[in-house]
Amino acid sequence: MSVHKEYKKITTKRLFDMKQAGEKIAMLTAYDYTMAKILDAAGIDIILVGDSASNVMAGHETTLPITLEQMIYHAGSVVRAVNRALVVVDMPFGTYQGNSTKALESAIRIMKESGGHAVKMEGGEEISDSVTRILSAGIPVMGHLGLTPQSIYKFGTYTVRAKEEKEAEKLIKDAKLLEKLGVFALVLEKIPAKLAQKVAQNLSIPVIGIGAGAGVDGQVLVMHDMLGMTKDFSPRFLRRYADLHTTMHKAFIQYINDVKSLDFPNENEQY
Ligand code: KIV
Repeated sequence: MSVHKEYKKITTKRLFDMKQAGEKIAMLTAYDYTMAKILDAAGIDIILVGDSASNVMAGHETTLPITLEQMIYHAGSVVRAVNRALVVVDMPFGTYQGNSTKALESAIRIMKESGGHAVKMEGGEEISDSVTRILSAGIPVMGHLGLTPQSIYKFGTYTVRAKEEKEAEKLIKDAKLLEKLGVFALVLEKIPAKLAQKVAQNLSIPVIGIGAGAGVDGQVLVMHDMLGMTKDFSPRFLRRYADLHTTMHKAFIQYINDVKSLDFPNENEQY
């Protein structure tokens, strides 16, 4: 059963209105045409072409190695599948930090070459010049605070962020700054639920949580995790909606057995 409203197309303005109306926003990642087509048809509001592609598609340990070209390839595949959802594309590590001119060039390449509708960037005050310059070109920006995986070597661990008062205060300050600069939405990753709720209540833009509790304006998960394709990743916040690992494993075994036992192809499966 689908409970989403029949909006023709999701825009940044529509997302803002959804927050004001108290309607929750559903967001998932996708990286390829086939999955994005199924996801869009199901009525997802936002598809994030996340740099988590570095992990789930390419098998890297972190999100750092993925390149701008690879992100554009994934994003273009997703965009070609989508009719309704807003497609947000992660700016990969090294394409926007510390140089706002380079940041704008990277964002323009994403928009031009993939057809994506917006970009997402990790960080607050330290990337404000890049955010401002990208916004000045008319490119919508989604912020990302809390556990920002591109900074994993600074954090040293994937544990919950902003439990200490000092880090929580900086997060609130950064969230307010990003809203002031003009980002259209904000992702909060793996922070205490109370803090995330406070941020959502104090901002008028939508706040989307991952491991940030129920008091925010929407939720995001990595598709491969929520479909149960990744067996070795089980954080507390992850709800698995399917066990595709088992389903696919069984199907592969069945196929191998059928080929080896001459069961496949049968009379009706040949010309
Ligand atoms: O890359 C990604 O998938 C993300 C989500 C975890 C928010 O940034």
